[in-house]
Amino acid sequence: MVDRGHLGVLPRPTKLADESYLEFLESFRDVLLSKMFPAMAEAGHARMAEDGLDVADPDLPLPVIQKSFGKSPIVPTWQRFMRSQQEMMWRRTRDSFAARADEELAWLKAGEAKGPGRLVIDPDFKVPDYARREIHLQPGGYTDDPLGGIVYHYGTKVFYSGTNDQDELHEELAQLATPPVDGKAGRIMDLGCTVGQATIKLKDRFPDAEIWGLDVGEPVVRYAHARAAHQGVDVNFVQALAEAMPVEDGAFDMVFAYILFHELPLEVIPRVLADVHRVLRPGGVFSIFEFPSASQHLPPAYRFMIDYDSRDNCEPYSPGFVHADFRGMLAEAGFAVADGPACSNGFLQSIVATKL
Ligand SMILES: C[S@@+](CC[C@H](N)C(=O)[O-])C[C@H]1O[C@@H](n2cnc3c(N)ncnc32)[C@H](O)[C@@H]1O
Repeated sequence: MVDRGHLGVLPRPTKLADESYLEFLESFRDVLLSKMFPAMAEAGHARMAEDGLDVADPDLPLPVIQKSFGKSPIVPTWQRFMRSQQEMMWRRTRDSFAARADEELAWLKAGEAKGPGRLVIDPDFKVPDYARREIHLQPGGYTDDPLGGIVYHYGTKVFYSGTNDQDELHEELAQLATPPVDGKAGRIMDLGCTVGQATIKLKDRFPDAEIWGLDVGEPVVRYAHARAAHQGVDVNFVQALAEAMPVEDGAFDMVFAYILFHELPLEVIPRVLADVHRVLRPGGVFSIFEFPSASQHLPPAYRFMIDYDSRDNCEPYSPGFVHADFRGMLAEAGFAVADGPACSNGFLQSIVATKL
């Protein structure tokens, strides 16, 4: 099998046929989200009104919403399409890169020995069971497939409907990350970094800083390191737990986390917040871009979608997160909590939490 190279920073699938099949899925997903979801929301909300329900009532129980939504045929059709496109996308992505697995693994191995950044893997590290779920239906999840890095990277190209092919979203988020008021940002942690797309963009923004990406998944940090090393970017990666970082107290000026918390069991979140508080120096800033949580009242269609996502797209922890008082948890952990700068994805909340 021939490595078909990269388009910019994006690896190409093994065959043109795979690339074109996945391009179809990218358009399909875009249609499902940008055209069919609004139509489904409108139909569901209209059914609710017919059933005498107030769409603006934030206290409506989810089963009541589901009952009204379920009366519109567009709703189960949308759910089936979403599930099927996700299954088709992972299967084809994995099959495509598995066809040249030897080369991919050799590329990872070659990256391991390369600098300028470091890769830290503790051979005794134990992955907790909660982190081994196949989130978003990715085969092997973040932790158990040696090809998990490249599969995640190309799979999320489809997930972002082509809008993040050159890490554009990660670049935007890195530009929006809030530095401490004294401007000192010598050490920065990208928490739950996956394949290190934001980690690299943080280095572009803060070229003099020592930057670390930390993730529980060995395949994803290996891929992140190889990718950065092959690009010659000086960032470091470590396989570790966000709730038990192998880092000294007060060692970091900034911690950044993009869509980590909705993928954590609710009981783990306070432990992560306590550890972030520990590793930040006083005045250090935690910049967070994340799913909405309890303080934002979601319209019924979004509540319906998050519940669907939880059951049919393996997001076991997100319903717990969206109903939690996340900002209250941050305050409880000792942070001063404020709104952060909004990003182009209006669904996400942005928080700046400063260590007091
Ligand atoms: C949705 S992904 C984050 C996306 C990523 N921040 C980006 O820039 O694209 C969630 C990540 O959190 C990681 N994760 C989950 N639980 C973790 C934990 N306890 N400690 C560290 N990483 C964790 C997963 O392995 C996964 O890579």
